[in-house]
Amino acid sequence: MKIAVSGKGGVGKSTVASIIALMKAEAGDRVLALDADPDANLASSLGIPHREQRRIVTISQQIELIEERTGAKVGQYGQVFRLNPDVADVADHYAYKHRGVSLLVLGAVKSGGGGCACPENTFIRALVNDLVLFKGDTLIMDMEAGIEHLGRATSQGVDAMLVVVEPGQRSVDCALLVERMSHEIRVKRVLFMVNKVACDADRSFIREALPKREILAFLPYSGEMRNADRDGASPYDFLDDETRGQYYEIIKRLET
Ligand SMILES: Nc1ncnc2c1ncn2[C@@H]1O[C@H](COP(=O)(O)OP(=O)(O)O)[C@@H](O)[C@H]1O
Ligand SMILES: [Mg+2]
Repeated sequence: MKIAVSGKGGVGKSTVASIIALMKAEAGDRVLALDADPDANLASSLGIPHREQRRIVTISQQIELIEERTGAKVGQYGQVFRLNPDVADVADHYAYKHRGVSLLVLGAVKSGGGGCACPENTFIRALVNDLVLFKGDTLIMDMEAGIEHLGRATSQGVDAMLVVVEPGQRSVDCALLVERMSHEIRVKRVLFMVNKVACDADRSFIREALPKREILAFLPYSGEMRNADRDGASPYDFLDDETRGQYYEIIKRLET
């Protein structure tokens, strides 16, 4: 399955993406995690030590690779280039392996605005859309905050858009925008999950703000999870049994 995790900045996208990735890897599946946020921090959420993170290559900076595969020069305009570059071997060569998860950091594309058809964007889009998964493989994409990537349609090829919200109007507004744009680019399923729930009023707020939506879970606010970020550890290692059970349910629902 291919899932994109989206939502407002700070709601817990990287936390959620890392937990799903590590959980699937622990269950023995092959997992490819794509960090598609220019402000990349999925590596930290996966618990990759800070000093190790220097060894992770950023795909959008692999100019030679992108030029070779697209047949175009990065940074030059008005060129004809291949719209379907070969990406089959990219994960094997460039992913950083950690606890059974292969991580690819896509990086920022510094050119031409949202919808741009530059070689870097074309290459990254092909990576997401054309990666062939085998039965049981998981591809999970940690998206940038907001909706810019949806404009760029990097997430077109995913099976489900998992929209993380926290109990607050700003995150709900962003979630609704993500929902609308996901439908526009014909993402098959848009699912919601609520993170950092502290009380019943939080629950009611979300139920009212997102009526008739498929909400996969209401996950509690957790001091351990917050501390994991501070201490450079993976939130996955600090799940209590109940929350872990909720994550199992989320994965099950994503897979059906
Ligand atoms: N359930 C939770 N309870 C408490 N803090 C959380 C929870 N989930 C995430 N956080 C914290 O919120 C902050 C933002 O999370 P992060 O996953 O980086 O968000 P995003 O990727 O959406 O920007 C981090 O400090 C993280 O530890
Ligand atoms: Mg993040």
